[in-house]
Amino acid sequence: MKISIKNSEEIKKIYKSCQLAAEVLEMIESYILPGISTEEINNICHNYITKIQKAKPATLGYNGFPKSICISKNDIVCHGISNKNDILKQGDIINIDVTILYNNYFGDTSKMFFVGNKISKKSQLLCLTAQKSLYKAISILKPGLRLYKIGKIIQKYVEKKNFSVVRNYCGHGIGKNFHEDPQILHYKSYDYGIILKPGMVFTIEPMINIGHHEVYLSNDNWTVKTKDKTNSAQYEHTVLITNLGYKVLTLRKEEKIPL
Ligand code: MF3
Ligand code: CO
Ligand code: CO
Repeated sequence: MKISIKNSEEIKKIYKSCQLAAEVLEMIESYILPGISTEEINNICHNYITKIQKAKPATLGYNGFPKSICISKNDIVCHGISNKNDILKQGDIINIDVTILYNNYFGDTSKMFFVGNKISKKSQLLCLTAQKSLYKAISILKPGLRLYKIGKIIQKYVEKKNFSVVRNYCGHGIGKNFHEDPQILHYKSYDYGIILKPGMVFTIEPMINIGHHEVYLSNDNWTVKTKDKTNSAQYEHTVLITNLGYKVLTLRKEEKIPL
């Protein structure tokens, strides 16, 4: 287990990649409407990233992943693959997960979008709880914090709302590599003894389900779904540990993290 401490040069570059990723999520918002295919969403993001941002969509070709972003709809937990026959309809909830490679550094972020305005109350609460659990975890970040506390606070909050936390996928260190140490668990495990230090950069990306936390891998070997077919939601930010606390590197313009 080797957790790299980033210097200010590296942090500048990671921040740039993170901001590009956040801008993709802002850009795509107005396209998320009933009738559009997930493939069209993927292609709009791909063109924006490559032609306007002059950056690389990091998921494309990553371990053979075939698309430029991940789009995970309803009971898909993560790593959803877009398809021209997959048409969004009223009431769908989708996660879009964007990872940018720019100047040899990565930035990674995701959020939920509502399709139309007929989202069930349960699914609305699910998405809000996923986002709030991420915010709660972010708000405790500071040097000296024991890493396992992140998962502990997320799980406590999510289960209080009667949802469940996915165990099989976690957050990760990020920088020169898409995924590096440490793993960031979103549920309470034991205290590994890892303590946060200024210059650490990692993602927090809780996936939470309406029903049971168990998931399965589909035949395409990428798409992860809930076992009980209930909806799942995820929000992801890349964060930096600073001397005084934290900085959310993938913060969007319209976004404020409540204290
Ligand atoms: N962006 C995802 C994460 O948050 C990883 C996607 S990997 C892919 O870590 F291969 F599925 F694209
Ligand atoms: Co990630
Ligand atoms: Co991601």
